[in-house]
This record gives sequence, structure tokens and C-alpha cells, in this order.
Amino acid sequence: MSKEKLLYLQTFGCQMNVSDSEKIAGLLQGIGYRPTNDSSQADLIILNTCSVRARAEEKVYNHLVQYKGLKRKKPGVLLGVGGCVAQQEGERLLCTLPHLDFVFGTHNLHLLPELVLSAEKGERLAEVSFIDNEKRLDLFPADTANTGVSRFVTVTQGCDNFCSYCIVPYVRGREISRRSAEIIEEISLLAAKGVKEVTLLGQNVNSYGLKNSGEMDFVTLLRKVCEVSGIERLRFTTSHPKDFSLQLIDCFAELPKLCKHVHLPAQAGSNAVLSAMNRGYTREAYLSLVRRLKEVSPGIQITGDIIVGFPGETEANFQETLSLLEEVRYTDVFSFIYSKRPETRAASYQDHVDAEEKQARLDRLLALQRKITLENNRSFVGTVQEVLVEGESRRGGQLYGRISGNRIVNLAADPALVGQMVRVAITTAYQNSLQGELCS
Ligand code: 5AD
Ligand code: SF4
Repeated sequence: MSKEKLLYLQTFGCQMNVSDSEKIAGLLQGIGYRPTNDSSQADLIILNTCSVRARAEEKVYNHLVQYKGLKRKKPGVLLGVGGCVAQQEGERLLCTLPHLDFVFGTHNLHLLPELVLSAEKGERLAEVSFIDNEKRLDLFPADTANTGVSRFVTVTQGCDNFCSYCIVPYVRGREISRRSAEIIEEISLLAAKGVKEVTLLGQNVNSYGLKNSGEMDFVTLLRKVCEVSGIERLRFTTSHPKDFSLQLIDCFAELPKLCKHVHLPAQAGSNAVLSAMNRGYTREAYLSLVRRLKEVSPGIQITGDIIVGFPGETEANFQETLSLLEEVRYTDVFSFIYSKRPETRAASYQDHVDAEEKQARLDRLLALQRKITLENNRSFVGTVQEVLVEGESRRGGQLYGRISGNRIVNLAADPALVGQMVRVAITTAYQNSLQGELCS
């Protein structure tokens, strides 16, 4: 029998990449690679990369340079790059990095075993061609290898929105909705393996089905997933405010399994910036959507993404972002300094905001949101929440899980409760989590 080979897989960026990495590990298992956490032991190192912001991309290059030393010491090790940086740079990476063995793009995961086998024979190849949606529909095999209590299930890939700052449509390609029958089959298989919660995943999940003729829409998909027995909780991410229908809002009242949390990136609070970003909604439309969600589902938790320092953003524009935070009272916000990305429309915009001012705006935003987050967390103290226990905490013999509104709760309880829905009295609120006690 041939010797087992070790794969060290490093994942950068978003949940989509985390899911892709699980698929990569599964595919490479088929040609004899077993995952390791120790890069110095690996026979194959793969970086699954992100290019959404320049800093994420720089990180990848820093790692790649470090692996030069490792390859010098252990010349037989193979080094490959996949994901969004691979898609963006393609063969150029092989030219600039002579110690790199292969490159694969975001549509080429299925070719990876062949690429690795060629690399084992000394060939240096880059596979980064986009595949048309018709053919891509056949490339979503059920992924049920890694289970657990909660799983992400891909429902859409790519994006057609072309927000002016965003590289995703260029590196992930056109939006595609996976076949609903395959999604339901995958979720049924996961449920049979003990998965209790699924999160439907895509760059823009709520436009699910709109572009495939004959496919169901997102609301119908949610209803179908709720019918899968064994699945107790359903979430989705990321949804786009411009595609959030009234029927989708109503789902939060009608579907008991649908969790009371929406990740709803606003990106900015002023209409001038939203328009320059090509977001397709106004501040007023966004706030009205939030209001409706809160009416239909009292206590719903809303999280968001905000970009500060977009080209042309004035102090007055920025203050509208701060007031948006106050009005929405987000549970939490992921905030970023605008980063100029190749090919995007905004890359050609005049950028008058200097780096120091951008950082100062980010700091102001973070301080305000920290205060709102803590106040919101404190509002749970004294309440009893349904918590799906997901695992044992790294610290001090506790378990962790999440409330329907997606806040993390830690509690001291028997590990046998992992995978169970329990009632927890919330006793303390911290900045990033809640502490609770199991109700008898
Ligand atoms: N600069 C800064 N942030 C960006 N994002 C996407 N593109 C950029 C960019 N060029 C942020 C958005 C998006 C999140 C995933 O990353 O807020 O919602
Ligand atoms: Fe990027 Fe906009 Fe698509 Fe989100 S919706 S992936 S921000 S282009």
C-alpha cells in the first residue's frame, strides 16, 4: 500500500472559502491526502485565498514567501494556491513565484485531484478558467463529510451585483443557484447524520432561483428546508437589502425554525455613498426594511457590514453612517476601511479621504458600535433563551451554543448536552458573548 500523504490547508477570508476548503480536503482524501495541522510535516501545502481587501491579499503573499524556506529544506513538498487571489492572478503567480507548483481558480475545485497528480510528476499548471452556469450546475456534489451540530450549505455562488468597490463578481464569476433538489437532499443527509442547524450560504442568497428558469424562489426554498425532519434551526447569509422581499420578511413570523437573526450589510448610511457604491437601495428603503423586520419579528437581531472612507465620503456622509448605526441598533457590525481593488469601478474614483482620516472614522465607528453591542447584549440578562449547544468551550470546562438571535452563550453543563436544544437563563453580558445557567 502506498504511504499516506499529509495535506496542510490554510484558509483565508470568508465562510465561502471555509466551505470550499472542506470540499478541497474531501477531494484530496480521494487521492490519498490526510489533513495535518503541522505545515512542517506536510507533503502538500494549499493556500485557499481571499482578495476582497488588499490586506487579505498581502497576507497570502507573506505566507507564500515564508514557504520558500520550507521548500528549500524539503524540496519534495508541493505548494498550491487556490481561491480568489489565484483566480485574480492566474498564471502570473507561477511566473512570479518559482517555488509555487500549481494554481487553481474558484470554478476549478473539481480539477484539483488531477492538478495535484500532475504536480507530483513535476508539472507546473494553472487552471483558472470560468465555467458556464449550465455546466457548473453539475459541479455541486452533496457535501456531507464534515458534520457536527451546525453546518453551512452552499445555495448560491458568485455575484451579479457589481457593487462598485467589490472584486467578488470578478473572482467568483456569475451568480448561480444550486439545484433545489440537491440542496434538500444534502440537508436531509446531514440531518440523518445528526446535524440540527443549517445556514444557507451564498454571496447573495435572497436572489436564489431568480436566474435559473424553473427553479423555486428563496422563500419556497426556506419552506422546503423547514420540512426536513431533524433540522431544528435554519439561518441564511448573506442577504442583500435590495432583494429582501415582503414574503421573506413574513417568513420570520411564519417559520418557527427560522432563527431571529439577519445579516444585512448596509455598507454606508448616506444616499450619496450608497449610490456611488451601486448598492441599489436608499437609506430610507434600508431603514424601512429594518423596521418591518422588527415589527414582524420582535427581538430579531440584525448584524451588518460597513465600509468607511469610500472615495468621496465626506464627514457629513460618514455621520449619516453613524446615525444609521444608532437607528438600526445593530447587534454587531463588521467594519472595514475601503480598499481599492483591481478591475472594480470604484478603483477609478478620485479618493480624497486620507489614510489617517479613514482610520479615525473607523475608530469612531468601532467605539459607537461597541457601546451599542454591549447595551444590546445586556438586554438579554434576566431572560431565558433557547440555546442549541454546539460544543465544548476552549476555556474552562464550559459548553457554548447560540441563541436564535445568533449571540454566543457559554454555560457550565454536561458535555452530553452537545447537539441539544436547552433553555438557558442569561446571567451576564460581555462584549462578545453571554454567560448563562441551564434552566432545570
Ligand atoms: N474594501 C473594503 N471592504 C470591502 N468589502 C468588500 N469589498 C471591499 C473593499 N473593496 C466588505 C463589504 C462586504 C464584506 C464581505 O467585505 O463590507 O460586505
Ligand atoms: Fe460584492 Fe456587492 Fe456582490 Fe456582496 S453584493 S459580493 S458586496 S458585489
